[in-house]
Amino acid sequence: MNIKVFSHDEALVIYLTDLFFEVISQDNRVNIGLATGSTFIDVYQSIIERSIKNHQSFQHLYTFNLDEYVDIDENHPQTFKSFMKHHLFNGIDLPDNQTHFPPTGSNIDYACYDELIEREEGIDVQFLGIGTNGHIGFNEPGTAFDSKTHKITLDESTREDNNKFFSSIDEVPKYAVTMGIHTIMQSKRIILVARGLHKAEAVYNMLYGDICEDNPASILREHPNCLVLLDKDAAKLVKRSCKDET
Ligand code: GLP
Repeated sequence: MNIKVFSHDEALVIYLTDLFFEVISQDNRVNIGLATGSTFIDVYQSIIERSIKNHQSFQHLYTFNLDEYVDIDENHPQTFKSFMKHHLFNGIDLPDNQTHFPPTGSNIDYACYDELIEREEGIDVQFLGIGTNGHIGFNEPGTAFDSKTHKITLDESTREDNNKFFSSIDEVPKYAVTMGIHTIMQSKRIILVARGLHKAEAVYNMLYGDICEDNPASILREHPNCLVLLDKDAAKLVKRSCKDET
């Protein structure tokens, strides 16, 4: 696991934007796993601006989002599909049929999302945020490390964290479908981003806590190619010897 700490937000956003374009500018098709949440909003905006400036083509890009709420009107502005359209997809020239989300219907084997990803030859780069309780995707503490895409009951703390996107806590969905931890770990490369003091403890637990299912992000320490990008607040509890500061 490599850890990079940025003292300025702008540098973090530019680093991620550069990395994104480096990945998609190959000649071959590339499958990228995308995350929602406030961590990525200005990164997506920066990708849009760069793509307009450079007349970037997205014909090789295929996206697979990590998760989606269940029991929410599909036109609600806070579905993750709406979030992605609003913050990224509407601003770049990416065909709709190249974007994918976990299925949310009832009576569905949600692991069909894993089969789809496998058929498409896997995720090349998976972008991840981290919840204040250490969740990745929506894999809350206690989720099995061998889980495939599945439906999950959101922790109350997660609902409270995501209340910022809704008008009241009652509106925040109680369930979601998320790529499983096994699904995430199958990605060839993982880039986890954490920003803000409220993420410092989750980052500390990810890096130094027990690798166990109650500490979901800790499993990333066993991934062969995982990069962690932090702002200085999220890195507050990271040991000096572990961090490469920019
Ligand atoms: C959300 C998403 C995650 C995200 C995380 C952090 O609820 N399901 O994919 O990475 O929690 O969110 P934020 O970036 O808003 O802190």
